[in-house]
Amino acid sequence: MTLVDRVGQQPGHSPMEQPAETEPLADHLDARPHNLPAQLTSLIGREHERQAVCTLLRRLEVRLVTLTGPGGVGKTRLGLQVATDLLDDFVDGVCFVPLAASSDSDLVAATIARALGIKETGERSLFDLLLASLQDKHLLLLLDNFEQVLAVAPRLSNLLAECPHLKMLVTSRAVLHIRGEHALSRCWQRHPDCRICWPSARISRCW
Ligand SMILES: Nc1ncnc2c1ncn2[C@@H]1O[C@H](COP(=O)(O)OP(=O)(O)O)[C@@H](O)[C@H]1O
Ligand SMILES: [Mg+2]
Repeated sequence: MTLVDRVGQQPGHSPMEQPAETEPLADHLDARPHNLPAQLTSLIGREHERQAVCTLLRRLEVRLVTLTGPGGVGKTRLGLQVATDLLDDFVDGVCFVPLAASSDSDLVAATIARALGIKETGERSLFDLLLASLQDKHLLLLLDNFEQVLAVAPRLSNLLAECPHLKMLVTSRAVLHIRGEHALSRCWQRHPDCRICWPSARISRCW
């Protein structure tokens, strides 16, 4: 049995692989499986964006939200906060997949599988294993630094199509341009559903 099969069966434990040098989040969050790293400082500002992204991801039809913007504007920090806020909404938990070190698109499935605790069997492709494992899961995948592996974006579409309760929150310097994506960026006018500003001048005062 893979670890992802155990997701949801062990409240109080975090079956997903924890990124190195991180501590679990606060105790009250441990009712759902997750591997979110603890934050050393509290979120400064961003209440509007935080609420807006949570609201978007709680909508039934919204399956993929991308936080875009240049490096350093706070995409990852906001993503981690939103994922934490949404933990109660996903019975099978939240899985953080840092892709900063994955410049090779071929390794994305392996990186996601590792974060979920899925072991390679050799008989099936990792992507097939991911599909099989995530098919019935109510889970949020937080894919961080996706600009590294934009070529893989169409595979995310496949995953979302095959796994009806799976949702994704992606941070990326570039929009993924895949069907169903809600991209929050300074070009938010192109997404009338999202009343989000991403003014880097204001953000730069936050830290
Ligand atoms: N709203 C915020 N409150 C507190 N710290 C923040 C906030 N946004 C970003 N930071 C901090 O600023 C740094 C850069 O943010 P990060 O999320 O890594 O940017 P990006 O992912 O866009 O490159 C990190 O140390 C992060 O913790
Ligand atoms: Mg980042």
